[in-house]
Amino acid sequence: MLHVNGGMGNTSYANNSRLQREIISMTCSIAKEALTNFYNQHIPTSITIADLGCSSGQNTLMLVSYLIKQVEEIRQKLHQRLPLEYQIFLNDLHGNDFNAVFTSLPRFLEDLGTQIGGDFGPCFFNGVPGSFYARLFPTKSVHFFHSSSSLHWLSRVPVGIENNKGNIYIGSTSPKSVGEAYYKQFQKDFSMFLKCRAEELVMGGGMVLTLVGRTSEDPSKSGGYYIWELLGLALNTMVAEGIVEEKKADSFNIPYYIPSPKEVEAEVVKEGSFILNQLKASSINLNHTVHKTEEESSTPLINNSLADATDYDFAKCIQSVSEPLLIRHFGEAIMDELFIRHRNIVAGCMAKHRIMECINLTISLTKKIS
Ligand SMILES: C[S@@+](CC[C@H](N)C(=O)[O-])C[C@H]1O[C@@H](n2cnc3c(N)ncnc32)[C@H](O)[C@@H]1O
Repeated sequence: MLHVNGGMGNTSYANNSRLQREIISMTCSIAKEALTNFYNQHIPTSITIADLGCSSGQNTLMLVSYLIKQVEEIRQKLHQRLPLEYQIFLNDLHGNDFNAVFTSLPRFLEDLGTQIGGDFGPCFFNGVPGSFYARLFPTKSVHFFHSSSSLHWLSRVPVGIENNKGNIYIGSTSPKSVGEAYYKQFQKDFSMFLKCRAEELVMGGGMVLTLVGRTSEDPSKSGGYYIWELLGLALNTMVAEGIVEEKKADSFNIPYYIPSPKEVEAEVVKEGSFILNQLKASSINLNHTVHKTEEESSTPLINNSLADATDYDFAKCIQSVSEPLLIRHFGEAIMDELFIRHRNIVAGCMAKHRIMECINLTISLTKKIS
């Protein structure tokens, strides 16, 4: 049932995904490195690239454009003159607004052709609806997987967290068992993800994944506080005023997990099919969204800092990714009120100059040659 707000409205993901766009720009140098490594080993006549959790909006095709341009640049350096066929797969859950993506394809391809020039392509696009926690592609059919801001979503709410009262994620007042149940679900999901991708990747194929993470080993002390605890606080004020039933609020938990680097690495090692080339943490200050990692900020993908961005609004960003889930549990009637309260709480935190940061973990993997 998970999907972001589709369409092009005020609270749509398409209009509120500047933060995630910034995350792509901060980490795309790692994707470039992975593609270069791949080309050092292979000379394919066609390349199959899949973006997992592609969503809809300008991030989807911006990323594809970036990856294709990188491949073309690498090929030029290697003096590969014959045109390369691109097979691009865009994956997301069934509820995703694939129509919006496909509608923008003709214009996108025209612009890309103009930008790259010469004999570029052809490019074949495919939508792949389904969960990335299951098989999506035939065996050994994909050269490169990419995923950004998606893998922190779990396949389901963990079982056994009925005692997580007053919280919608792991919070400072959550019993220890809640953190353990979330971690267990992450382990199960992430190992399944790795297993499926290992089957689908060609030998030596690459994968670059970026997900929200934490630097502390304690899951209740992390970026998750800002992302979900503020929304939980807004919900609690509605419970206190009798607008939302306490039982209803207590039974809502977000299927999301913010792992530490060690937790991610442990799953990669345990699954065993991949070489871990790098695992990097980067941070964005959500108040003004100024880069902390300098080297990536020189990337040509996006030059603007979010400090000046008129299209960045943290509260609306959270609304655009979580509203469909909340509507399913609470109904549509309370949404406006809930998000007004959430916006006020966020504004209060920012006005007090509380530093709200989002940590991202990026991992670059290569499928082992066995
Ligand atoms: C915040 S959006 C990120 C979109 C895009 N990659 C970006 O960086 O802007 C997360 C996306 O992951 C998708 N997603 C979550 N769980 C998924 C799953 N199990 N399989 C496929 N897509 C999933 C959601 O539907 C959503 O579109």
